[in-house]
Amino acid sequence: MKTTIFLFHPNFANSRVNKAIAAGLPGDIEVRDMYALYPDFQIDVAKEQAVMEASDRIVLQTPMYWYSGTPLLKKWEDDVLTYGWAYGSDGNALHGKELLVAITPGADNYGAGKFVPYTVYELLRPFQAMSNLIGTKFVTPFVTTGASSISDEDLAKRVKEYADYLSQDELKVLGAFE
Ligand SMILES: Cc1cc2nc3c(=O)[nH]c(=O)nc-3n(C[C@H](O)[C@H](O)[C@H](O)COP(=O)(O)O)c2cc1C
Repeated sequence: MKTTIFLFHPNFANSRVNKAIAAGLPGDIEVRDMYALYPDFQIDVAKEQAVMEASDRIVLQTPMYWYSGTPLLKKWEDDVLTYGWAYGSDGNALHGKELLVAITPGADNYGAGKFVPYTVYELLRPFQAMSNLIGTKFVTPFVTTGASSISDEDLAKRVKEYADYLSQDELKVLGAFE
């Protein structure tokens, strides 16, 4: 099982949560710091497609920015998930792989009756729909809410939970309306 983390943090040097959870992963999991690789947003599409083809589990790790991922993650979707490769009648390069979104919303007030009356899973539907189109298994996202104010103790727990989660051979697929 080859797991690759595609990390999309625009200011990783000042990250606390994403830096900690990525640093806690075992060495056989490759972490690609996409903003460091592509500071000018000119993504090497052939290279990134090759990395994805060689991966069984593709992890898109991002802080939550404006109820979604960060800009380079969107650009990555636009550029790398090409017709005839990721989708379309011959576009089956990613079929059957697992796709996991690991996201850190700064706030923790998500869900019915809360300040943001949507669950984080609902906000991630565009990624789930993308996953459906490219034939990957959209497994249950790894969501760390309250990332802006998480205590050192809870962050240490999250670091371990992320590593434990990714150590599983197979992750549960998220239901369409879950
Ligand atoms: C431009 C910007 C937009 C943000 N948008 C959201 C948001 O929509 N929802 C939220 O809960 N937090 C939001 N945040 C807070 C970040 O998600 C939070 O700071 C980050 O996940 C913390 O992780 P880090 O320590 O790895 O940077 C935003 C932060 C920035 C800078």
